[in-house]
Amino acid sequence: MINLNSLRDSRILITGGAGMIGSTIAQLAAKLGAQVTIFDAMLPAYGGNSYNLHGIHDNVTFIQGDIRDMDLLKKNVNGQDFIFSLAAQVSYVDSNIDPLLDLDISCRGHINTLIACQENCPEAKIVFASSRFVYGRIDYNPVDENHPFNCLSIYGIHKLAGEKYYKFYHDAYGMRTTSLRIANPYGPRQQMKHSKYGIVNWFIRLALEEQPLTIFGDGQQVRDYIFVKDVAEAMLAVSLTRETDGQVYNLGSGTGTPFIDMSRIIAQLIPGTEIKMVEWPADRYFVETGNYISDISKLTNTVDWFPQTSPEQGIAQTIDYYRTCREHYW
Ligand SMILES: NC(=O)c1ccc[n+]([C@@H]2O[C@H](COP(=O)([O-])OP(=O)(O)OC[C@H]3O[C@@H](n4cnc5c(N)ncnc54)[C@H](O)[C@@H]3O)[C@@H](O)[C@H]2O)c1
Repeated sequence: MINLNSLRDSRILITGGAGMIGSTIAQLAAKLGAQVTIFDAMLPAYGGNSYNLHGIHDNVTFIQGDIRDMDLLKKNVNGQDFIFSLAAQVSYVDSNIDPLLDLDISCRGHINTLIACQENCPEAKIVFASSRFVYGRIDYNPVDENHPFNCLSIYGIHKLAGEKYYKFYHDAYGMRTTSLRIANPYGPRQQMKHSKYGIVNWFIRLALEEQPLTIFGDGQQVRDYIFVKDVAEAMLAVSLTRETDGQVYNLGSGTGTPFIDMSRIIAQLIPGTEIKMVEWPADRYFVETGNYISDISKLTNTVDWFPQTSPEQGIAQTIDYYRTCREHYW
């Protein structure tokens, strides 16, 4: 397993760092002795939550800032060793409803990030959070990095543009950028107010509220669920080596889990949970990508990282988390 101790005393800035994945990186890095700055706009209805930084508030610098604010970005990236570039509107449904907002954050905001880094921390390693949604409709499994881009959402199109910006700044200016196409992350610290993000967390909320879990179709659709701590460790791992500069990697568990199996794990851990099967609604079918399993061999052949958490373990930890602090998320 990767040794992250070299992060001690390094300077790390995380855009979107009050959200699920960013705050998990912050929790790990702060405990390793890194100097962590969180740069987060805390936009309403997104995943930013100050409770996500519980336990490390005194060890991190928090800047309430928007990546569309170039001057503030320039000031705060100055002197950083690592940038984790996670700020985003995360709902593919909302990206189709308000494509210009998604464009503004996911394209202009990320070009801002690159320009600010080029000026004020050109040697920094920059890790960009892309998404499996760049692949859209799936032609084959497991999905490797050469799979065609059949984007089914504005979110996916803008994530692909983001990857291209980060690659361009590497190729044209020698900046140290890496993109990760994250599969289906779940776990502690995800927002739980609405169902537009990951379905695992939403089903956990429903089950904790004694509401049924509704499954479209036969529940056999396969997803690659990855526990957020595994995501955070992978992002830190790729940041530590020059071999990943200019590259794009899939980041998932590498294992497919049928929707019905994920639901049954939740139902077993929260006794009394009812699972209801219904027909696919016509509007949802449009964005159904088909089964998805990441081929993570490019990543695991490059860095000393492998996912550690099974769905049973990850779902159990997530349920425990929200059982103890749900008042901060509901
Ligand atoms: N959650 C998923 O299903 C998923 C899957 C693949 C990729 N990703 C990507 O991983 C990254 C982190 O996602 P997450 O799951 O932690 O989501 P999240 O919503 O919990 O975190 C995103 C954070 O970005 C912040 N943010 C949004 N717009 C901003 C802006 N303009 N300036 C500064 N901060 C802003 C939000 O306040 C939030 O705290 C995102 O880039 C997301 O697109 C997420």
